[in-house]
Amino acid sequence: MGHFTLGLGEKLQQYLLDHSLREPEICRRLRGYTLEMPNAAMLSSPEQVQLLALLCGMLGARRGLEIGTFTGYTTLRLTLALPELEMICCDVSEEYTSVGRTYWQEAGVSDRVDLRLAPAGDTLDRLLAEGARDSFDFAYIDADKTGYRGYIERALQLVRPGGLIAVDNTLWGGAVADPAEQDEDTVALRELNRWLHGLEACDLSMVPVGDGLTLLRRR
Ligand SMILES: C[S@@+](CC[C@H](N)C(=O)[O-])C[C@H]1O[C@@H](n2cnc3c(N)ncnc32)[C@H](O)[C@@H]1O
Repeated sequence: MGHFTLGLGEKLQQYLLDHSLREPEICRRLRGYTLEMPNAAMLSSPEQVQLLALLCGMLGARRGLEIGTFTGYTTLRLTLALPELEMICCDVSEEYTSVGRTYWQEAGVSDRVDLRLAPAGDTLDRLLAEGARDSFDFAYIDADKTGYRGYIERALQLVRPGGLIAVDNTLWGGAVADPAEQDEDTVALRELNRWLHGLEACDLSMVPVGDGLTLLRRR
């Protein structure tokens, strides 16, 4: 199973990739390696990460947060695209992130990646306690779905005004629009989307790329 991409259909999806993807060779290798892993579906889709790289480039981003790092693909792609970018990466899995560390090292970006192995809520609380308020240019939220709201509430304090908060999986394979789907993650994402739609602290766009990516610009 590969990373999840919403239904353009196989042919058009391939066309999109053939005509837009500019993936560094080491990112393609990390993606290929990750796609052989049992939880490959957790990998962020390459066209979505390329969009993030474009947006972060437009922001002139120098400090970013990734909440849910997995095998490090997004951070590898972003740090290669933006030579000044420093990332704080949150995850709880030594096993997944050790793959990322290997590739970050090989790519020569590991000195710009600060991996925090702890529940993301704890890491974000610690950053706030250390005075990191308004100090990040963007945050990418892609960890446990029931935790998203708490991560976004903290990211709204950590990301500077004008900065970006990108939230993955907001269309959740279409399940959010199907009232018959009542599992915990789907319910949490449905509630989250309702909350985000009314959130006045941000400009918002819900983009049907990957598994649905909601872009928030902090006002
Ligand atoms: C969908 S994957 C992230 C994919 C990644 N952004 C990428 O570029 O491919 C979700 C990750 O969140 C991590 N995770 C789950 N619960 C977490 C928590 N409470 N705190 C931090 N990370 C968590 C998992 O270990 C997993 O690696």
